[in-house]
Amino acid sequence: MKISILTLFPSMFDGFLSESIIKRAIEKKLVKFEIIDIRDFSKLNNNQVDDTPYGGGAGMVMMVEPVVDAINSVKTETSKVYLMTPAGIPFKESIAQDLSKEKHIILVCGHYEGIDERILNYVDGEVSIGDYVLTGGELPAMVISDAVTRLIDGVIKKESYEEESFNDNLLDYPTYTKPYEYDGHKVPDVLLSGHHKNIAEWRKSEQIKKTQERRPDLMK
Ligand code: ADE
Repeated sequence: MKISILTLFPSMFDGFLSESIIKRAIEKKLVKFEIIDIRDFSKLNNNQVDDTPYGGGAGMVMMVEPVVDAINSVKTETSKVYLMTPAGIPFKESIAQDLSKEKHIILVCGHYEGIDERILNYVDGEVSIGDYVLTGGELPAMVISDAVTRLIDGVIKKESYEEESFNDNLLDYPTYTKPYEYDGHKVPDVLLSGHHKNIAEWRKSEQIKKTQERRPDLMK
């Protein structure tokens, strides 16, 4: 799978791509990242990519042309293009699962007061990572890339995500490691019992309890 990210701030992705699971997935050629600098597609002096909003108002708006040219420079028949915007559909695990089956996704990062609305004619969807406004789409693009990459076959062990949060619409069960007792707090005895069926039942009931307490909306 290939993930192309279109941004005005390419170096923001340096750390993200060079550590841990994402780094290993790239090395194993399970995913290919391509970071495209939208500024390279400016046709104006000083590589200008933004201008003042028609009708007035605060801030600068990214111009549509360099963004569309950047999209077209990487787009093929199999590409899906998504715009990062707080006005998009809320990102969740099921969307990550769908995206992880695509051949090529293109994530477009807005900045300043967003991108000229006519960009919507050139994208397949708009995605938000939550009800808050960030300074740009770069962190959302990293969030989505991370959630999608870990679901690609071979990136992490299947067991790691088959039982985790949001599968079956349940939060994850609690996990513990050594020491057995810390500051008076002990590990639940069932986990030391060696009884796999009891452990599985306990984990499932903890998942249900936690989800009912914290995120009853998931269980509808
Ligand atoms: N750009 C700014 N805020 C955002 C958000 N919450 N989700 C996606 N893109 C954004």
